[in-house]
Amino acid sequence: MDYNIYLCAMSQQDDLFKNIVSHCKEYGFIFPSSEIYDGLGAVYDYGPYGIELKKNIQDFWWKAMVQLHENIVGLDSAIFMHPTTWKASGHVDAFNDPLIDNKDSKKRYRADVLIEDVVEKYRQKNDKEVEKAQKRFGDAFDEAQFRATNPNILRNQAKMDEIETRFKAALEAGDMAEIKQIIVDLEIACPISGTRNWTEVRQFNLMFSTQLGSVADESSTIYLRPETAQGIFVNFLNVLNTSRQRIPFGIAQVGKAFRNEIVARQFIFRTREFEQMEMQFFVRPGEEMQWYNYWKDSRMKWHRALGFGADKLRFHDHLKTAHYANAAVDIEFDYPFGFKEMEGIHSRTDYDLTQHEKHSGKKLRYFDPEINEHYVPYVVETSVGLNRTFLAVLCNSYKEETLENGETRVVLSLPANLAPIKVAVLPLMKKDGLPEKAREIMDVLKYDHQLFYDEKDSIGKRYRRQDALGTPYCITIDHQTLEDNTVTIRDRDTMAQERVSIDTLEAIVGKKVGWKQLL
Ligand code: GAP
Repeated sequence: MDYNIYLCAMSQQDDLFKNIVSHCKEYGFIFPSSEIYDGLGAVYDYGPYGIELKKNIQDFWWKAMVQLHENIVGLDSAIFMHPTTWKASGHVDAFNDPLIDNKDSKKRYRADVLIEDVVEKYRQKNDKEVEKAQKRFGDAFDEAQFRATNPNILRNQAKMDEIETRFKAALEAGDMAEIKQIIVDLEIACPISGTRNWTEVRQFNLMFSTQLGSVADESSTIYLRPETAQGIFVNFLNVLNTSRQRIPFGIAQVGKAFRNEIVARQFIFRTREFEQMEMQFFVRPGEEMQWYNYWKDSRMKWHRALGFGADKLRFHDHLKTAHYANAAVDIEFDYPFGFKEMEGIHSRTDYDLTQHEKHSGKKLRYFDPEINEHYVPYVVETSVGLNRTFLAVLCNSYKEETLENGETRVVLSLPANLAPIKVAVLPLMKKDGLPEKAREIMDVLKYDHQLFYDEKDSIGKRYRRQDALGTPYCITIDHQTLEDNTVTIRDRDTMAQERVSIDTLEAIVGKKVGWKQLL
């Protein structure tokens, strides 16, 4: 689909989000896949600055999870796995979305999303009531008491509870007719046609399949992995036997996953090819809830460290846990199109290892010397989407500012460590030995930092370009530099410029972009 058509299609989303999407293309963060052939739905490529930002987010996750935890080790398992893996994991039989079509618009929707959107509207109504009351009562306002007593809020809450209970029961029973009836009873209309002319609800498996080798028969069908987690489970013994780990310990990996999402929307939020950063933490049976709570807390701290305010993040308990889990919660981010899942934390019990034991005939047990017992460990999983985190970081940092002199600028106030370019090196002029001096400075900094050399355009234009890329520092080399070995260093956020000695640059930049502050 043409990029501009895609922009128009997002009619219900606000201008800010459209501007962020345009910014990504204009400044080389994200391009539609195979654009010269008009693109491929819900598939995107990361450009020169997008790949740097994505890599930095991934590094931040890896450092926080693997480098700072002695009891977590890494893995990079293959995308293709033995087909029985997906039978054992339950994905062949149960990795389905309930879908419904509107007969007039011919548009297909996820039935669960249509219903959850209604619940979300009631939730937003309540938030608005609270906001209004807060303004009315000022400091004396007691939100908890207001929520517990206000008749409008209680009515909305009762409605939400009723929908959620009914929907949960229908999902658990796999009752597609009842899910359709909920949509009918809630009078949900198609956002495109405006009608309630719906088909039945059907289950649709989300795995992509392909053929291994040249002969296409059923036994050669393999799947593109829909999650990276199974690569960790099937390697449990390999890692245990080679890493000298003892329970509790974790295995982490980052990699591509593929899902044939029928309703792929909202730019890179829901795509058919995406990256997950997953960690499976193996624990003694009975201790899983304690670790589940530990990881909930720890992962929320990680998100806050990315600069997301407390009001931008929330936990959302799952209505229905996946086929493998006994407890599950999402960490949601407040995207321009509302609060949506960015990370899932799941208590997966011993489901996966037990299933792989059954299907492989191999024992996947741990001998616990402290209690002198063999057992199948329980697992707590943290699973965060790299692309969704990327989108959250972008949305959180994108700002359109009007400056004191009336000019406007777009700035990405990214955490400095995540910025694609750490320092732009800008000779004021293309002559008088200034470019040569700039190159000398690059030679000092380039081994530790991603730099950008730019000598074209006015210095003001060059600053604006770096602001739009989120570059924390611009260093300008002028004629004074040649006399006293000083440069000006400009801060992206305050735009303040300071004259400093070239000898101090390594320390200044190193302090600003070092990982320690963020971790
Ligand atoms: N191993 C568990 C698992 O895969 P999930 O909740 O289905 O759990 C985990 O996925 C994370 O992967 C989500 O929180 C989300 O960030 C990301 N994710 C899932 N589907 C996605 C999609 N179609 N596009 C982009 N990210 C996706």
